[in-house]
Amino acid sequence: MRTQVAIIGAGPAGLLLGQLLSTAGIDNVIVEQRSGDYVLGRIRAGVLEPITVSLLEACNAAGRLHRDGLPHDGFELCAGDQRHRIDLQALTGRHVTVYGQTEVTRDLMQARAAAGRPSIYEAEEVTVLDFESGSRPRVQYRKDGTLHEIECDFIAGCDGYHGVCRASIPAERLQTFERMYPFGWLGVLADVPPVAHELIYARHPRGFALCSQRSTTRSRYYVQVPSSDRAEQWSDEAFWAELKRRLPADTAAQLVTGPSIEKSIAPLRSFVAEPMRCGRLFLAGDAAHIVPPTGAKGLNLAASDVGYLWQALCDFYKGDGAGVEAYSARCLQRVWKAERFSWWMTGLLHQFPDHSPFEVRMQDAELDYLLHSDAGRRVIAENYVGLPA
Ligand code: APR
Ligand code: PHB
Repeated sequence: MRTQVAIIGAGPAGLLLGQLLSTAGIDNVIVEQRSGDYVLGRIRAGVLEPITVSLLEACNAAGRLHRDGLPHDGFELCAGDQRHRIDLQALTGRHVTVYGQTEVTRDLMQARAAAGRPSIYEAEEVTVLDFESGSRPRVQYRKDGTLHEIECDFIAGCDGYHGVCRASIPAERLQTFERMYPFGWLGVLADVPPVAHELIYARHPRGFALCSQRSTTRSRYYVQVPSSDRAEQWSDEAFWAELKRRLPADTAAQLVTGPSIEKSIAPLRSFVAEPMRCGRLFLAGDAAHIVPPTGAKGLNLAASDVGYLWQALCDFYKGDGAGVEAYSARCLQRVWKAERFSWWMTGLLHQFPDHSPFEVRMQDAELDYLLHSDAGRRVIAENYVGLPA
């Protein structure tokens, strides 16, 4: 098989890139190691920056998002019993849209199927070849016992943190940066109305908590837990009790609880691989970087990488290769700022087991300062809605 761009991975990054390229008339094939149902079964975050929404619009995949997505003009930050609103609209003139990543993935999958573009699911032993210097990269995979090969102009590595693309770049060509946090987020999804109209990020001596939502009838809640905890240790009752302890009393009193549909623990990690291109292989999304979820940046960074890659490839096929050359540097400028914001929000709102009483007071003072300063609230707001592309 021959195509212009072979995309590895059918997560949001790969699917969005495929849809944008197809809209521009650039031929592409997606190769994914899992089944479509497996990809749709993963529960991930759900806050979209305006940039992400505009990219979904650009490839005609924003219809349901505009109907069912919830525009949020602000969110709340709690410290103890005090609730403070970050008014995104007033501070930045922009808002975010709450719409689950699962739904984004579903919409993109449907758009791709409607356009009749090829996706190969359940591909085994995916291998990326000849991307370093040759102008004819290849992708091999095994499907139903047969070895297949795709010849292409470019390979887009949209295959997440554990994917094959970054791992195929010679170690001496990559530099990686990493920080692990000594805690995770225990998340519960439940068909109960959200406790508040907007998201609530809560700092508490027992640990961080987050009240999020997927719709007016489905909620997503998180509590910070030690890295050593296992989700099976946590009954629904224990989860709800812990969440209530970490919320202001009036909020806790309004919390509607119910059986969990999903319960899992996600580790918190910051990670960046540089550069994001090796010859004709590009890395995009989680394949190149991971952020802790505190700033809701993971999906949005994946989308903005893909936006740059789409522009670079459109220019390339019009005879201008400058965007391909600049891809990594352009992405990394935005990536590092989102890494910084996610790391900073994580540091501000979580309990760190190794913090001294002095460091805890510094956290108290920083949060108190930010929440009582116009400039402080604006710093949070403009990062949260997303820095300019
Ligand atoms: N071959 C083919 N596909 C692969 C391979 C491989 N060797 N390895 C991984 N994949 C697939 C995975 O099965 C997955 O479907 O690549 C896809 C990567 O998708 P994601 O992990 O969702 O990554 P990305 O598309 O970059 O989306 C980033 O996801 O993890 C969240 O916070 C993150 O919201 C952000 C978003
Ligand atoms: C979520 O809804 O899952 C979510 C929202 C905001 C975050 C992280 C996760 O910062």
